[in-house]
Amino acid sequence: MIFFETSILSVMSDELAGKHIVLGITGGVAGYKAAELARLLGKAGAQVDVVMTAAAIHFVAPLTFQALTGRPVFTSLWDVPQENGMAHIDLTRRADAVIVAPATADFIAKLVHGLADDLLASLCLARDCPLLVAPAMNRQMWEHPATVRNMAQLRADGVGVLGPASGAQACGEVGAGRMLEPAEIIDALRASFQPKMLAGKRVLLTAGPTFEALDPVRGLTNSSSGKMGFALAQASAEAGAEVTLVAGPVSLPTPAGVTRIDVTGALEMRDAVKSALAGRHIFIAVAAVADYRPAVPVAHKIKKGAQTLTLELVANPDILAEVAARPDAPFCVGFAAESQNLAEYAEGKRRAKQLPLVVGNLVQDGLGGNANVVTLFDAAGAHPLAPGDKLTIARAIVRHIAEMLDAQN
Ligand code: C5P
Repeated sequence: MIFFETSILSVMSDELAGKHIVLGITGGVAGYKAAELARLLGKAGAQVDVVMTAAAIHFVAPLTFQALTGRPVFTSLWDVPQENGMAHIDLTRRADAVIVAPATADFIAKLVHGLADDLLASLCLARDCPLLVAPAMNRQMWEHPATVRNMAQLRADGVGVLGPASGAQACGEVGAGRMLEPAEIIDALRASFQPKMLAGKRVLLTAGPTFEALDPVRGLTNSSSGKMGFALAQASAEAGAEVTLVAGPVSLPTPAGVTRIDVTGALEMRDAVKSALAGRHIFIAVAAVADYRPAVPVAHKIKKGAQTLTLELVANPDILAEVAARPDAPFCVGFAAESQNLAEYAEGKRRAKQLPLVVGNLVQDGLGGNANVVTLFDAAGAHPLAPGDKLTIARAIVRHIAEMLDAQN
């Protein structure tokens, strides 16, 4: 029996609570979604100053935003409640972020050229805080070479671009250019406020199952969803790391800013890890690698008929153990998904593979779903995390890794 000193690590409070957000609204039909965005920001505890362009007020009345935020709405450079008449300076000096949603093609072009002919454009130019834009426009406008050029320039200028999504448009056409949903914009804003605890660090992860081919159409695999590994890749990128994710066969979207390498079998995963390993500070092995693979995959489809079929399996290499055993090993993190005796098995794996950190969970708590219950095992003992969604847990794991790395230096 192994005993550990236990402590519940706190889960971060809402990153938006107490934040001062300037919400810029430009003239697009998606302006109606900005009302919901203003409401959700307020609900998350942010203080919201709404700034509307002259075109925006043709779509939604400023009074709507005044009622939702409980604060005056700014619509003009010239008619401002500020005593010094300098709303474009005052608003941004107290802002933690400016977000323009919806951002029209016209407004994006203005930003790219540094124009300042209305209050919103002026404060975007005068700001000293991050700027995020959620483009919304007709698909032809989005695909126009001028907009493509402008978006590239905007990104190069360090502006965060959220979306757009694809789908049915107000004009009746279908394509890219729909503004992201308010809840997605809130998630992106939360992500942008994550502390940059892994700035300058290079992280490599594995995620998902592996698929070990038996013949050209069949194989051995497992039910790992890949969600925990993808959440950790996202949390690492949000924390400022340069992230590469080696993913087994899953159909999850690649988190923003993450380089993804898709693989199928364990041998392919091992090769991908080997070739991406140089210069990495952290290796997080989340993948549920198959322990065995068919000794000889059959070149053609196995035909049915025989009453019994014997498969000969050979052991796969342990990718994590190999990396951890290297003389130049990065900080290695393993996962232990167990159905019982979590502490004993997870700590046993940590010692056997000589890892500084193992994340343990009971399979019945986390497999496939969006939530998880995990305990971190390191040399100091066991640290149960509060139950939560996988992204919240991933952020807490990243924070623990960053603290362990800091303590090493
Ligand atoms: O399968 P096992 O429980 O030993 O997995 C523990 C850790 O080792 C996990 O982090 C997993 O990603 C990693 N592992 C690996 N290669 C294997 C088996 C496991 O990298 N062949």
